[in-house]
Amino acid sequence: MLNIAVLVSGGGTNLQALLDAGKAGQIPSGQFSLVVSNKENAYALTRAKEQDIPTAVLSKTKDITPAAYGEKLIALLKSHQIDLVVLAGFLIVLDKCVTDAYQDRIVNIHPSLIPSFCGAGYYGLRVHQAVLDRGVKLTGATVHLVNEIADGGRILAQQAVEVMEGDTPEVLQKRVMEQAEWILLPREVEKLAQTLSKMQEVGQ
Ligand code: GRF
Repeated sequence: MLNIAVLVSGGGTNLQALLDAGKAGQIPSGQFSLVVSNKENAYALTRAKEQDIPTAVLSKTKDITPAAYGEKLIALLKSHQIDLVVLAGFLIVLDKCVTDAYQDRIVNIHPSLIPSFCGAGYYGLRVHQAVLDRGVKLTGATVHLVNEIADGGRILAQQAVEVMEGDTPEVLQKRVMEQAEWILLPREVEKLAQTLSKMQEVGQ
């Protein structure tokens, strides 16, 4: 079975969706072996601890370069024999050393239909605020592979969600999570874990 690490920075509702799917037997190709946060007070860490999943905090101080942070992260992932990395609300853009070390083995969930409302500065409620400001009628979520460009890797899956009259960023965020993110992410993680398991079996 593949070892999966989930990287988080905040509340961790996507982490919860993954853990629930795992418990329900919907992710048979992998197990959640590590949760890493860059914030020591992230509620996501509590969710992991409640399910006895090992956790680690890797803070990004100003004096540490992206490459040095990346090397620390790689060492941590390797020490837990991690095969697959899921970014679930992780607010640090990974250095190329990480995306190279885990090429095609890192997925991210983004709360819009990429290439709209993505890239630098588009995170959290800012994404949904931008959607409302532009007045688009459809938004959604995207699961994609991660390369060194923010939200720039190959798209694996997308799910559209309607924007409703009177939406606030908070209301829209909740709808996108419920109707897209929490469904899409576990499904795509299982698919990728399955693919990687098959590759491992044939020694690739
Ligand atoms: C989600 O909207 C996710 O798409 C984005 O960051 C948010 C994280 O929320 N990348 P949570 O911590 O999973 O609740």
